[in-house]
Amino acid sequence: MVDLQQHHTFALTAQANSLIQITSVEELQARLPFKQPFVILGQGSNTVFVDDFAGDVLHIALKGIQRHSTDSHHLLNVAAGENWHELVCWTLQNGITGFENLALIPGTVGAAPIQNIGAYGKEIASYIDSVEYLDIQSGALFNLAGEECEFGYRDSVFKHRLHAKVVITAVNFKIPIQWQAVADYGELRQLQQPTAQDIFEQVVAIRQQKLPDPAQVGNAGSFFKNPVISQQQYQQLQQQWPSMPHFAVNPQQVKVPAAWLIEQAGFKGKMLGGVQSHPTQPLVLTNIGQATGEQLLAFARSIRQQVHEQFSIMLDNEVRLIGRHGMVSL
Ligand code: FAD
Ligand code: EPU
Repeated sequence: MVDLQQHHTFALTAQANSLIQITSVEELQARLPFKQPFVILGQGSNTVFVDDFAGDVLHIALKGIQRHSTDSHHLLNVAAGENWHELVCWTLQNGITGFENLALIPGTVGAAPIQNIGAYGKEIASYIDSVEYLDIQSGALFNLAGEECEFGYRDSVFKHRLHAKVVITAVNFKIPIQWQAVADYGELRQLQQPTAQDIFEQVVAIRQQKLPDPAQVGNAGSFFKNPVISQQQYQQLQQQWPSMPHFAVNPQQVKVPAAWLIEQAGFKGKMLGGVQSHPTQPLVLTNIGQATGEQLLAFARSIRQQVHEQFSIMLDNEVRLIGRHGMVSL
């Protein structure tokens, strides 16, 4: 048995049968067929083990960065086990600009396409040329073009048709050499003609101020996704809640900040056992000490229920919850 507390950032106490480090694609292929149940894990920053897991955890630790350039683009092939934030720093140190808005997002490069990581006005989908993966059933290697990854807000084909069927081994990025600042999200607007380094530093500063550091207090970032509702529902709600913040997604749909809904529902700063809704960002649930999976599930369910009763909006968890036999839903 192996203790998983150090292997997921929410840091609940949980055990698994074993934790297997994967450092090469050949090693991965040699392990096929995987014994059921199994879980693929990067740095566990979007995964919470809410119970002991009765199977093997495959920790993807593939390493390596290859770089090429054309007249118009930088091309990077990055192994799945590389750390995302270290890659962002490496690109800037090497004169490659574009990833700066996505600084300080925890986790691996291999997990980045799965929920199409995004922050401060950018999503990684815009830079993904293709995703290399191993098909778990056949052992064959594929290279899926970015356009076929069905990227959406915190979404991709890897959460649907290819869920639990593939291991991402590397990501190919295509980054235009011609750079343009994206600085119209929140506090970034204060920057005057920023460089990529300015944006990087500002994003790091905002994140350090707002979000709890998993090294200090266990958490998995935003626990829920920001709900997308119809214009019609938004207009009805707005009559009752005129201050409800919103962002247009398209002419028919509107995104509402889950943090606002959770705060209005009275959960900001609230605790249940060892679980707390973070006092400066209520969308982040934290493990303030000795939290249990049961407490986390109970707290998240009561938030979801209260928000639903008050706003008729059903929150959907962003975090992957792993129970005894695999993924569980709230
Ligand atoms: P894990 O949690 O290890 O895995 C996530 C999922 O991907 C699991 O289902 C796992 O099975 C699967 N998986 C992982 N690697 C592979 C692979 N190689 N092949 C196949 N499947 C795989 N996310 C954002 O988008 N934006 C943010 O701003 C943001 N901020 C965060 C802030 C904090 C403090 C924290 C703790 C998290 C934040 N997150 C954010 C969420 C998290 O950082 C991302 O989801 C990240 O991509 C997860 O990487 P990971 O390696 O830790 O994934
Ligand atoms: N808000 C409140 N009360 C609060 C905090 C925020 O009402 O205490 C409202 C405000 O209206 C604010 C809005 O929520 O304008 C948005 O807050 P914030 O800018 O902090 O972003 P978010 O929507 O809560 C999303 C992502 C984050 C990402 C940030 C920055 C999701 C689920 N979360 O959070 O991603 O870092 O934007 O782009 O989309 C993650 O996915 O784990 C994550 C941290």
